[in-house]
Amino acid sequence: MNRTENQMLIIFGASGDLTARKLVPALFNLYKGGHLPKNFVVLGVSRSNLSDDAFRKKVVTESKYLADRIGNQGEDFVNAFANQLFYEDLGSDYDTDYGALAKRIADLNVALKTDNNYIFYLSTPPSLYEIVSKNLTEQGLNDESQGWKRLIVEKPFGYDLSSAKNLNKGLQKYFKESQIYRIDHYLGKETVQNLLVTRFANSIFEPLWNRNYINHVEITNAETVGVEKRGGYYDKSGALRDMFQNHLLQIVSLVIMEPPIGSDAEEIRNEKVKALKSLRIMKDEETLYNNTIRAQYVASEVDGEKVKGYREEEGVDPESTTETYAAIKFFVDNWRWSGVPFYVRTAKRMPTKVTEVVIHFKTPHHQIFKDSGAFNKDNKLIIRIQPDEGMLIKFGVKVPGQGFKVERANLDFYYSSLVENHVMEAYERLLLDAMQGDATLYARADEVEAAWEFVDPILNYWKNGKDVRTYGYSAGVWGPTNADELIDGVGMWRNPSENLADDPGFCVIC
Ligand code: BG6
Repeated sequence: MNRTENQMLIIFGASGDLTARKLVPALFNLYKGGHLPKNFVVLGVSRSNLSDDAFRKKVVTESKYLADRIGNQGEDFVNAFANQLFYEDLGSDYDTDYGALAKRIADLNVALKTDNNYIFYLSTPPSLYEIVSKNLTEQGLNDESQGWKRLIVEKPFGYDLSSAKNLNKGLQKYFKESQIYRIDHYLGKETVQNLLVTRFANSIFEPLWNRNYINHVEITNAETVGVEKRGGYYDKSGALRDMFQNHLLQIVSLVIMEPPIGSDAEEIRNEKVKALKSLRIMKDEETLYNNTIRAQYVASEVDGEKVKGYREEEGVDPESTTETYAAIKFFVDNWRWSGVPFYVRTAKRMPTKVTEVVIHFKTPHHQIFKDSGAFNKDNKLIIRIQPDEGMLIKFGVKVPGQGFKVERANLDFYYSSLVENHVMEAYERLLLDAMQGDATLYARADEVEAAWEFVDPILNYWKNGKDVRTYGYSAGVWGPTNADELIDGVGMWRNPSENLADDPGFCVIC
């Protein structure tokens, strides 16, 4: 197991939602699991005027996000955690003299012996990343001559390719690439990491993992929620920027990458970059028209309750064309994947919350059992990212009796069936990795840029192209009906149910 050295975690934007909702609960889990180092300090920094005590109350003792986890842990146990948290008010602006902040860090470092090892977590809008980095640098807080210094940044990492490049340049002026950790919480999910293990720790899958045996690959990411209180942010972003450019292309890169020579962070990330660079960029309007679909949910009734349409949501322009549904068909131009279509979709207000990867294998080259009666003949490997995490293989078996009638059968595995099945939450796992200096599950600058390179032409086309449509779909259904045309050549979307092994269309009525 890697060692976690004494250190201080300095969170910028600490009075914001992410700190209370995700970061502190993740730290509390690490504390409960005994993963925090002996000397550990969290220093919250932002523009609100809070005392250490008020901060501790807000994010620990009185936090609704921690209530369940605290459960019946004794008061002393919880207070011992809370007492490791401190707060520093930066004043009215992030672009200010960080002299007082630097002094507070130095004092805490001496008093609590955190060995000059600091992580700066920027939970701020991306427009502040460079400014904060510059101000930290002015205080020498990027300097690693005594203790290491790391910088974690949140998504969105850029708005398009050119802004992502500018952000990278801006950060790299002050921190070395090896000090920068770009978070993508999907990489913190066990099941996403398991894609690597499935492929590279088994000899039964990898030989089939190519154009000779795979017909097409389908990835679905569906959420039942709408944009909730984030209408203002979402309307400027849309599904392609919010989910596809980062989380889904990360999953794609793990599905298509070549085997790395080892499990070292750089070796894995080198292969992921190569994979992303091999996505065929769609350039002309006709290709973009035929291979991309964007849509928006409209008002409907779900489970007897009225649900607002996207344009009625708070913070959303009533004439908005921003997509809450995006479906993209694309190809990967390399030796392994030549000619294999990929279908990837992401959306809000779908019938169920689910993320899964489906590998559709080719039908046997020579059909011996012609009238086998098997419906939907291809073999499938379904990798369930969430929920009901696990894997399912669909294959043909003989129906007992005369002749050779073939029926589909399932071979399934569920994470919940493992004896050791405690799954760390994504933020918990990612924070611990950064604390230990392991960047494997963080996105590198060139990875992020390669993903934008693929996404940029689609965004431009959706913004400026001729004949671009934003289709509507009723909240609670599987997207617009014409989305089926995209996948027409190879069948239908597999509209998954809540449970991995349930067939599409499965529903419980009482
Ligand atoms: C975030 C997006 O990155 O991921 C949200 O900004 C989305 O819009 C969320 O709801 C989904 O994450 P998860 O882990 O619930 O699938």
